[in-house]
Amino acid sequence: MNAPDPIATRPMPHVLNTYGRLPIAMSHGRGCWLWDTEGRRYLDALGGIAVNTLGHAHPKLVPALQDQVAKLIHTSNYYEVPLQEQLAAKLCEFSGLAGAFFCNSGLEANEGALKIARKVGHDRGIDRPEIVVFERAFHGRSIATLSATGNPKVQAGFGPLVEGFVRVPLNDLAAIEEVARTHPNVTAVFLETIQGEGGVNPARIEYLQGLRRACDAHGWLLMLDEVQCGIGRTGKWFAHQWAGIVPDVMPLAKGLGSGVPIGAIVVGPKALNVLGPGNHGTTFGGNPLAMRAGVETLRIMEEDGVMANAATVGAALSQRLRAEFEGQAGVVDIRGQGLMIGVELDRACGALVGRAADAGLLISVTADRVIRLVPPLIMTRDEAMQVADILCPLVKAFLAEPTK
Ligand SMILES: Cc1ncc(COP(=O)(O)O)c(C=O)c1O
Repeated sequence: MNAPDPIATRPMPHVLNTYGRLPIAMSHGRGCWLWDTEGRRYLDALGGIAVNTLGHAHPKLVPALQDQVAKLIHTSNYYEVPLQEQLAAKLCEFSGLAGAFFCNSGLEANEGALKIARKVGHDRGIDRPEIVVFERAFHGRSIATLSATGNPKVQAGFGPLVEGFVRVPLNDLAAIEEVARTHPNVTAVFLETIQGEGGVNPARIEYLQGLRRACDAHGWLLMLDEVQCGIGRTGKWFAHQWAGIVPDVMPLAKGLGSGVPIGAIVVGPKALNVLGPGNHGTTFGGNPLAMRAGVETLRIMEEDGVMANAATVGAALSQRLRAEFEGQAGVVDIRGQGLMIGVELDRACGALVGRAADAGLLISVTADRVIRLVPPLIMTRDEAMQVADILCPLVKAFLAEPTK
């Protein structure tokens, strides 16, 4: 590989202190590998938090983006952006939905979804529409999306929260029917198909099917946040497709641009004409660079069988982790689908992030005690086994330490 850039890691006194960062600065990457400015190499099982679908410096994506940058980066939505239509058509083809609005991030896609849910209510004469949301959900850090989020740590210090949310536990259809009985102003149910930040908690297949039925019965929109679990990560284009259902609204972001910022609200017929001119907008959203990144990401995924790879490599990695941790005291659960895997321990394990990095592996820990693996979807089986080779001994050693 190339020599690393001659930039030393240094403190960033002018950057607001909102992240507990590791003292590592990446210099460059290739495939599932990253090199830091000191020349150390890391196997990337984090994928920029489920973003780098095609890994780093993908040989097909790089020239396409270079071509786009040299032609056109941004023009604004005052003009047609033909690449928007191209990307929207692909997303509709893959999802069975009918249209898309493009923005720049996950929270923006979710904000748009929340606006659709409220507007549907107002269009029906409901002045104070309500949206069903979930315990342990994560939808972003704007005031509305953190209000929809089911994590008091994310909300602390930012009250008053946005009203109009009814919170229920995940995978509990009786709770949904209770809401139907007691909340006549509900217009939508909004959940992650697999909760990511909340600890890799999948909505069960029967639950998703039951929710679809409940939404149809009560005239609610089913809005599935696939920002983290969508775009092939679970081995289908969208995680809800494992349940054979189709949502009405689906926010996307993260993996759609392989690292170029992008978000999308993809909608079905019931939500297609809810927003009209003047109801919603964005300066950057849908710009030619982001759209090209999305179009090329999906094209390369199709061409190279990336989604099938996510399914088989993910299954192999899960199987290996199950075998390694069979009967291991301290490992509570191993769950997820495809290349979205959570290993829940019986104790807080944030310390493993730094230890893994020291050992040349990038991971994250979410919900305090869930090791989350969301690597690039191009990861090979051999690389996935290397993830386990590094991670498993670290976890076993960690669990052997006396708890304080
Ligand atoms: C399911 C889900 N929704 C929304 C978001 C927010 O996305 P962003 O950070 O791009 O605003 C995230 C980010 O982790 C997410 O996992």
